Amino acid sequence: MATDDEQLLKSLLTYIGRSYHLTVVPNRKSVLNHANLNSAAAVLFTDRPNDVSAREFCERLGRLGHHRPRILAVGVRGTPWMELVEWQTAIDGAVYFDSPLEHQIQAFALVVSHRAEEAIAALGDNAKAIWEESRKLMRDVETLVRAGQPVPHTAVHAVAASVVEQSDDTVFFDMIRVLRDHHSETLVHSLDMGLTALLLGRHVGVRGKSDQYLLFEAGMLHDLGKTEIPLAILNKPGKLTADEFAAIRRHPLSSERILRESGGYDQQLILASVQHHEKNDGTGYPHGLASRQISEIGRLMAVCDVYCALTERRAYKSQTSSQESFAIMDTMTGHHLDPVLVGRLKEMVYGCSAAPLAAD
Ligand SMILES: [Fe+2]
Ligand SMILES: [Fe+2]
Repeated sequence: MATDDEQLLKSLLTYIGRSYHLTVVPNRKSVLNHANLNSAAAVLFTDRPNDVSAREFCERLGRLGHHRPRILAVGVRGTPWMELVEWQTAIDGAVYFDSPLEHQIQAFALVVSHRAEEAIAALGDNAKAIWEESRKLMRDVETLVRAGQPVPHTAVHAVAASVVEQSDDTVFFDMIRVLRDHHSETLVHSLDMGLTALLLGRHVGVRGKSDQYLLFEAGMLHDLGKTEIPLAILNKPGKLTADEFAAIRRHPLSSERILRESGGYDQQLILASVQHHEKNDGTGYPHGLASRQISEIGRLMAVCDVYCALTERRAYKSQTSSQESFAIMDTMTGHHLDPVLVGRLKEMVYGCSAAPLAAD
């Protein structure tokens, strides 16, 4: 492997490792010595002469059972190590250095999402069922949008039913904490937004079940239009070009179009998706609406979106604590965010000190 390639791979892994809770380990022996790592591990440059043979490494990993880090092998397609890895169940995934960047990121995300699943399963059956239904829904939705098919409201409503009807807020708070400890997959953000919008709605006095359904569904679907943005732009670590930024700014309109074309969605839900990036002073997008031109649900969604984005891990940044997030949001109230809703969200988060919404 050329030195330039090694450098590129090293910087990619460092960047992805920070965003996805991966620990980058230099050789096989250090993986075996760090069997209690509470994160996935990447094995670098494994075709190089190594202190533990590939076969022995896989056998020893297998013997560690569940008490071991998730292992991703990184290498070039067709090399003896990568061919061996494909047959080894001890290895959780392979990242091919010669694949497009977005495939590499997807491979990392897939392995790390197993961690989220384990953490959510540990919260109990209710949390596990919500996670599984939501994951299936968002995968189906993505497949439908990519195929240009309508997204049936009945499917979204069915997931909302199992969330709203079980109404145990403690489970939701625990789930939000776990989701935010993990990576920035669309599913994590959608579910985080659905639960946060629902909890904030309940906190400000939304009692009607149909309105609670609406808030959860709006949170789940607000970024639907992002499905049309290439992953290479969504996960880009550096500064976006003007064209890339324009593609990002189109997503609320895409969400609106997809929902209208699908049919069966409440107008309020459509407003939530198209208005969640509008700002009070009219400098937001896509329509540059000002203050009361933005619907109540649009303003609520904007507050939740900023809070979730700050407290979640993203490809280009780590988590921000609740306290720091509110300090940032305080500087955004008035000209951008609705100050009353920010205040109510603060009340909600701090009122639940037994289960903080993010690692402070
Ligand atoms: Fe958005
Ligand atoms: Fe969002």
